[in-house]
Amino acid sequence: MTSKRQALVLLLCLITFSSSITSSLGHIGGIAIYWGQNNGDGTLTATCDTNKYETVILAFLVQFGCDREVKWNFVGHCGDWSPCTKLEPEIKYCQSKGIKVLLSLGGADVSAYDYGLCSPQDAKNVAKYLYDNFLRGQLGPLGSVTLDGIDFDIEKTELYWDDLAKELDTYRQSGRYFYLSAAPQCPTEPKIYYLQKAIETGLFDYIFIQFYNNPQCAYSPIYGVGSLLNSWDKWASIVKPNNTIFLGLPAASDAAGSGYIPPEVVISEVLPYIKNTPNYGGVMLWDRFHDIPTNFSGQILPYIKNSNVILHSVARVSMQYLSLFQQL
Ligand SMILES: *[C@@H]1O[C@H](CO)[C@@H](O)[C@H](O)[C@H]1NC(C)=O
Ligand SMILES: *[C@@H]1O[C@H](CO)[C@@H](O)[C@H](O)[C@H]1NC(C)=O
Repeated sequence: MTSKRQALVLLLCLITFSSSITSSLGHIGGIAIYWGQNNGDGTLTATCDTNKYETVILAFLVQFGCDREVKWNFVGHCGDWSPCTKLEPEIKYCQSKGIKVLLSLGGADVSAYDYGLCSPQDAKNVAKYLYDNFLRGQLGPLGSVTLDGIDFDIEKTELYWDDLAKELDTYRQSGRYFYLSAAPQCPTEPKIYYLQKAIETGLFDYIFIQFYNNPQCAYSPIYGVGSLLNSWDKWASIVKPNNTIFLGLPAASDAAGSGYIPPEVVISEVLPYIKNTPNYGGVMLWDRFHDIPTNFSGQILPYIKNSNVILHSVARVSMQYLSLFQQL
């Protein structure tokens, strides 16, 4: 009799536990998209109205650090001739729909994009600049916005990015929480390019791994998905369990030098595998401009969400207790 009651209590606990996990972790997976480096991106409002993206990443803040004058580049969308403060209502519109809007630092290693940090103190100064201009609702280059976070798309220089992540983390620990993300290229050997130390901090909520422009860890039309899946597993093993990883892909065959995967291959050979990773977060696409004609995001979206693995195992254990209970 006692054991029967104990089993019932245990069962009830498990059911409560599993349903609380369902609401917090169940069905993870969404699309993050870069916006701002092509005139054909369309507006932010139109981008958010597609309801296909859970995160929009504004690209890029291209010049900062080492006492450089801060500059941003959103190509023909806005600039000296039409201040980017005009994006404020569109950013707020996207946020009102529950879409996270991040600002990306860095971008391609081209001379026009002049960024880098000179010292831990410099990292502190840049963190303060970012916090004051983009993260606390004060007037900055994008108007009076409270962005959802900062993305590190660092493609040159190695130093002090870990300091910058730590400085930004102190701001979010002492006030409103905002996200930190990183967009490293896929190679991990001998080390992650540019962001090794920063990623080792464990402070990035989202890691948008670029599985393109690096054939050694990306899809090959000849050799298939093997190298990409090996690399994915490697990433899953090196980042902290609370750092969510994303499959970063070109949204069209000409969106990157190499690494494009046809949507049907993503659906049949990549997503079913990577969705089982406990810290899988979804897919990152480069970029909105290329996604408009291909509708890459729309094609893969129905296959992106997982039903969380932890949930499955809790459900399985519950069922075992249920049958035990019935036997008593
Ligand atoms: C991940 O967990 C570690 C250790 O608890 C913590 O220091 C870090 O801030 C967490 N990172 C994120 C992105 O929450
Ligand atoms: C994109 O693809 C999805 C899935 O096939 C479809 O439902 C949607 O209508 C498409 N959107 C556009 C703009 O073509």
